[in-house]
Parts: sequence; structure tokens; C-alpha cells
Amino acid sequence: MKSFNTVQGLGRDDLESLIDKAIQYSTAAHPDQILNRHAVAMIFFERSTRTRLSFQLAAQRLGAHVLNLDPSRSSTGKGESLRDTVSTVYAMGADVLVVRHPESGVPDSVHEWTGAPVINAGDGTREHPTQALVDMVTLRQRFERLSGLRMAIVGDIVHSRVAGSLIRGMPTLGVHLTLVGPEEFLPAQASDVEKTTDLDRVLPEIDVVYLLRVQTERGASIDDGFAEAYGLDSRRAALMPETSVIMHPGPLNRGVEIGDDVADGPRSLILDQVANGVPTRMAVLAALEGALA
Ligand code: NCD
Repeated sequence: MKSFNTVQGLGRDDLESLIDKAIQYSTAAHPDQILNRHAVAMIFFERSTRTRLSFQLAAQRLGAHVLNLDPSRSSTGKGESLRDTVSTVYAMGADVLVVRHPESGVPDSVHEWTGAPVINAGDGTREHPTQALVDMVTLRQRFERLSGLRMAIVGDIVHSRVAGSLIRGMPTLGVHLTLVGPEEFLPAQASDVEKTTDLDRVLPEIDVVYLLRVQTERGASIDDGFAEAYGLDSRRAALMPETSVIMHPGPLNRGVEIGDDVADGPRSLILDQVANGVPTRMAVLAALEGALA
């Protein structure tokens, strides 16, 4: 793999081998230092807690140095173009560029401009491929087989790059998706995926509920009735099968899309997702190793 900017085009075997590798790393006390003497640059033009820190830890566990560009303090504030900024970081000797940007497609442009191996850490509303991989790893740990699982993705799907990657990747592993939300949050594309506005109808029939935050920074608004119609509280969670699980990529807006008792309850895999962020990103970095100079 030269870059990891999308899950589109990855087959079942590609995804399964990344998942296997992540699960190996999740139990490896002393992983091989395969990135020893390499440098991984974190180029984040949007806020991040989980993704940035887990990439840093993942790179460090494989022996790499980590460079952190802070755009609010870098020369982009002096009028430098994005192209010049990323070319500068690559010329300095970074081996991998981990890029998050509010505009869809920027990680592909960075790869085109520089030729560097790039990992997409979230581009606009398009994709967040390592988060989808984290979620696959988390489901594999819980259910062993992903094929045949029924998953509902609920909330602001149209603005969610996490949903973008889940919709492109989960069906490859045989997961059956239903997209649930008010009309304005359901994507017009993804015509081959089932969509509904009625959450209570799908809850009794699913194995996984995957909740999403309403992305107000991308122009979405939280209508008065949203929490009432789509928020997962304990009353609504009681409609789900006993073996079903609850996921969320974070950050949570408690009291909107998810209630406290559900977020912190026994069926929540939210902290497992967070924990899997590190070994999963180690697996992605390891898959790029062959592409490093
Ligand atoms: C998401 C993101 O930034 O796309 N968070 C994450 O990386 N886990 C989702 C969000 O911001 O709602």
C-alpha cells in the first residue's frame, strides 16, 4: 500500500489482513520497531483528540519519531499555501504524512503534490478510513464474524466522513447497513443501502447501533425534535436485542444523540473503539512500511 486515503477498492482479504494485524498488535507487549529511524508527520487542520493521539502513540510504539505541525502556529498563517507547507514537511525528512483537513480530497492532493505516503485522518465529509477500520476491529473482537451482522448508522450521516468510510467498507465484509435519520441527514447517494427515518422500527432487528454526532461546524443544525426522535436513551435501547451493541466514533454530545446511561452502559463499545485506535493505526502504518524511503 502506497497511501491509505480511502477504503474504496479494498477487498475483503485486504480488510481482513489489516484487522488481523491490528488484533495482533493489540496484544503485543513489545512490537517490532519497524519504523525505527523513520518520522511520521501529523498535519491536522481540524481539531482532534482520539485520532491524533492514537496515531502518535501508534507511530511511537513502532519506533518512529513524531512531528506535529500546529497550523495555527505554522507558516500557513503567513500566507503559505497548503502545497508549500506539506512539501516543506516532506522535504525535511518525514516519511509518512498523516493529514486531516476540512476539505474533501486534500489527502489525495497531498499525495499527488509530494509523492509521499499519506494517511487520511479525516477529509471534510468524505472519508475517515482508519476510524472505519477501528470499528471493524472492535466488531471482530465482539462477534468474531462480521458477515451477516446488521448495523444501523444513526444521525447526521450526510456530514459524517466516518459514515462515508463505513458505507464504503462494511458491505465488503458482509455487514448489512441501514441508514437512519431525518430526511435532511440521509445521503442522496448510497442508493444501494437501505434508508429510513424510523429508528424505533429498526432497533429490534439490529446487532449494532452506530451513533453519530450532529456536525454543526459543517452547517447542520440540531432541531428541537432530534434528540426525541433519534437520541438513544435507555427506553429506546430496551427495544434492541439483548446481544446487540452500541458504538460511536466520538466526540459524544451526551443528551443529544446518546444518553449517559447508554454511553456508559454494559452494551457500549465506545471505549473499546478508543482502545483499538492505537493497534489499528499501527497496522496501517505497518502496511505502508514497504512504501517508505
Ligand atoms: C470523528 C471525525 O473527526 O470525523 N471523530 C473521530 O475522528 N473519532 C467524528 C466527529 O467529529 O463527529
